[in-house]
Amino acid sequence: MRVFVADHPLITHKLTVLRDKTTAQPTFRALTEELVTLLAYEATREVAIEEITFETPVCETQGVQLARPLPLVVPILRAGLGMLEGMVKLLPTAEVGFLGMVRDETTFQPVTYAERLPDDLSGRQCFVLDPMLATGGSLAAAIQFLFDRGADNITAVCILAAPEGLEALEKATEGRNVTIVLGAVDERLNEQGYIVPGLGDAGDRLYGTI
Ligand code: PRP
Ligand code: URA
Repeated sequence: MRVFVADHPLITHKLTVLRDKTTAQPTFRALTEELVTLLAYEATREVAIEEITFETPVCETQGVQLARPLPLVVPILRAGLGMLEGMVKLLPTAEVGFLGMVRDETTFQPVTYAERLPDDLSGRQCFVLDPMLATGGSLAAAIQFLFDRGADNITAVCILAAPEGLEALEKATEGRNVTIVLGAVDERLNEQGYIVPGLGDAGDRLYGTI
């Protein structure tokens, strides 16, 4: 598993505001989108392209376009949905699949409650979106879901991770082609499985408590 932690003052600045408990929901949503667009730049560094010949107003020349099959973006509902617009800003022609997962807040085990994905993901670059990598259980389950459909090239974009979750994910994806792109790695998990210092419950801050 390859891990890239963003190192950019604008990302650190936006993360600071995102973490602040006084930041209101509209600002939290807008910042999440902006942060994801910045992380998407790193996450798509190896996106598959193919050469094309086309004409400028002046002459024929060569360029590139995204290779087919087009990349698949998979936000993990609910909080990952808040990352989708930021990602497709850079990949407007990508297809979008959905996985609904919720973590049992006592056992920390992920429960899958929705799925809308292509049957065959072989040869497809998959970009998974989930803001929080806490115990790593949800992301590991999501990635396994994609492997079971034949995926062999997965990049996850997360805003924050805990070292414990990264370690668990490393074990769960051993020997597989998985890349994680992160805004920051925080200190630890607390007894409630929350990332410390973190930003709280990402889904609640994006969409309210339901
Ligand atoms: C949050 C978050 C991740 C998961 C991370 O989702 O968006 O999916 O927790 O925790 P883990 O690494 O310990 O599995 P949550 O289960 O709160 O659901 P939500 O997105 O519907 O709020
Ligand atoms: N899920 C969240 O939304 N936040 C955390 O800190 C951990 C899991």
